[in-house]
Amino acid sequence: MVCRCQGNLWFVPATIILTAMLYYANVTVHVLAAMLWLGGMFFLGIVGAPLLRAIEPPELRQKLFQLIGERFRAVGWWSIAVLVTTGVINLHYRGLLHWSGALGAAAFWRTGTGHTLAAKLAAVGTMISIGAVHDFIQGPRAARAVPGSPEAIVLRQRAALLARVNAIVGIVLVAAAVRLARGG
Ligand code: HEM
Repeated sequence: MVCRCQGNLWFVPATIILTAMLYYANVTVHVLAAMLWLGGMFFLGIVGAPLLRAIEPPELRQKLFQLIGERFRAVGWWSIAVLVTTGVINLHYRGLLHWSGALGAAAFWRTGTGHTLAAKLAAVGTMISIGAVHDFIQGPRAARAVPGSPEAIVLRQRAALLARVNAIVGIVLVAAAVRLARGG
C-alpha cells in the first residue's frame, strides 16, 4: 500500500484546495455584503420610503425616517468596510495586488482589466463620498428640522435625491464588478 503522505506529496494539493476554498469564501462574503448594502438601499427606496411618506402625523413619519435611516446607516457602513476589505483580498487572489506590473504600471491601466478596475474604484469612491454626505450631513439635518415644515420637506427631498444617485452608482459598480470578474 502506498502512503499518500510519503515525502509530503499531499501538501501541494492540500494547499491548492485550501487556497481555492479561502478564495471562494472571500468572494461569497464580498457578494453577500454587496447584496446587503445595495439590496437594503433599493428596499428602502422602492418599498420603505414611499410607505413612510404616507404616515401621519409628520412627527411620527420623521421619527420613523430617522430611526430606520440610523439603523441602515450602521448596516451600510459595515457592509462597505467588508466590501473594501474583501475587494482588496479579491485583487490579491486575482494576482493584481502588487505595484510592479499591475497597480503601479501605466500599461496595466491601459488594458481592459485596468479600465474596468478603474471604473469600479471610481464608482466605489463616488459611492462612499455621496453616502457620507447623505448619512452624516443631509439625513441628520432633515431629521432635526421641524416635522412637516417646508424646510423638512426640502431637506428630505435632497436626502432622497442623494440616495437615488447612489443607487445608480451602485448599479454601475455591479456592472463593472461583473465585467471585472470575467477578465475585464
Ligand atoms: C475597493 C473596493 C473593491 C475592490 C478592490 C473590489 C474588487 C473585486 C474583484 C477583484 C472582484 C472579482 C472577484 C473574482 O471573481 O475573482 C470583485 C467581484 C465583485 N464585486 Fe467587488 N470590489 C470592491 C468593492 C465592491 C463594492 C463596493 C461592490 C458593491 C456593489 C462590489 C461588488 C462586487 C460583486 C457583486 C462582485 C462579483 C461579480 C461576479 O462574480 O460576477 N465590489 N470585486
